[in-house]
Amino acid sequence: MDSGIAAKRAKLENGSGKTGKRPQIYVHDYVDKEGSTTLIFSLPEKVGALADALKVFEKNHVNLHHIESRPSSEAKDSYEFFVACDNLRGGLEEAIDTLRDHTTSLQVLSRNPKEQGDEVPWFPRKIRDLDRFANQILSYGSELDADHPGFKDPVYRARRKEFADIAFNYKHGEAIPRVEYSKEEIKTWGTIFKELSKLYTTHACREFNHVFPLLIDNCGFREDNIPQLQDISDFLKDCTGFQLRPVAGLLSSRDFLAGLAFRVFHSTQYIRHSSRPMYTPEPDVCHEVLGHVPLFADPAFAQFSQEIGLASLGAPDEYIEKLATLYWFTVEFGLCRQNGELKAFGAGLLSSFGELQYCLSDKPEVRPFEPSKTSVQTYPITSYQPVYFVAESFVDAKEKVRAFADTIPRPFSVRYNAYTQSVEVLNSKAQVITLAKSIRGDLTLLEDVLKKIE
Ligand SMILES: [Fe+2]
Repeated sequence: MDSGIAAKRAKLENGSGKTGKRPQIYVHDYVDKEGSTTLIFSLPEKVGALADALKVFEKNHVNLHHIESRPSSEAKDSYEFFVACDNLRGGLEEAIDTLRDHTTSLQVLSRNPKEQGDEVPWFPRKIRDLDRFANQILSYGSELDADHPGFKDPVYRARRKEFADIAFNYKHGEAIPRVEYSKEEIKTWGTIFKELSKLYTTHACREFNHVFPLLIDNCGFREDNIPQLQDISDFLKDCTGFQLRPVAGLLSSRDFLAGLAFRVFHSTQYIRHSSRPMYTPEPDVCHEVLGHVPLFADPAFAQFSQEIGLASLGAPDEYIEKLATLYWFTVEFGLCRQNGELKAFGAGLLSSFGELQYCLSDKPEVRPFEPSKTSVQTYPITSYQPVYFVAESFVDAKEKVRAFADTIPRPFSVRYNAYTQSVEVLNSKAQVITLAKSIRGDLTLLEDVLKKIE
């Protein structure tokens, strides 16, 4: 059975995602003000370099409380600047990102939240920031538990390390390396593909059955061929803007969900051990490619998934756990009602021959998808689910997740900018004005289209 898939991912401890050591405090007697962040940076040796740096703060509406300088300890004839700035108003994160381009070095020395416990956990702002997750995996792909079917197989373990290394070294923007799968691997895939294909027309949701033939035509989904992640990623990008990136091991729930905010799905590339083709204790390429990929090509489902991701950015740990549970009962094990019948759309179901039949039988309990209740439902990770939740539609589920996201205590709102593939944090008047201008542009377009249709 396959229902342990992604379980570890959803249940593992949530990391804050922060990296790096806190450096020594530069000015020892300086006391951080409430809502203040202190930075130290060095500038290149050129006239006007400091003025350029200060303009970055001004442009992002960030007030400076304190500034001082000293000769650089690292470069002769160079200076370091210590600044304390307001982190409650304006776009400090944007300012820091821009400053990195103007400075020869930059360190964030401290961040003092408004009140104890108010500090927002780090989250990626640009799609490229997802590269940081490669170093934060909770276990490397080749580290197998003693009860893993491949634990005692040195050839399989060496193969797993090859896949883990591909993912570990992958950087955003690169093509995902193509893999030549062995005959044994293709045989394992073929067994699963053949058995599951028999069930899809009767058990999978309409959206899945719409996309699946397209994947056969465009991405080499065949019994005798394991599709390549890059081909699938290109296909998804054309459909919904979703893309795949390889992952070397388990990510924390926080990191995994953050990827969805950018329409990035972290996908494994290895295949389960050949001794048990119908079982895997962890996500593998069969689970990702057969279970997840078809739905990410559906616009409403893609938007629903991104909504969960956006809600997770900077959310407190207890809400990350709730969002991971929502993800579990939808993206992994979700059911929906279509023409009065229950159908499966969760990847854990669509990649499990046994559970796909079980979930639509009269054995499990089914309840309506309701985030406030679904997000606190407990679930087993090594057996079929006793309870499933039914979404009326992906659009309806998305609206419900959006309403749930409003209950998450965050001092800002986020918006995904598809042009720059970045997340905009909206917490100041200036940013809201920019947003209003963008909406005004969209409304003008809408008005124009309506006139032309008339
Ligand atoms: Fe999954």
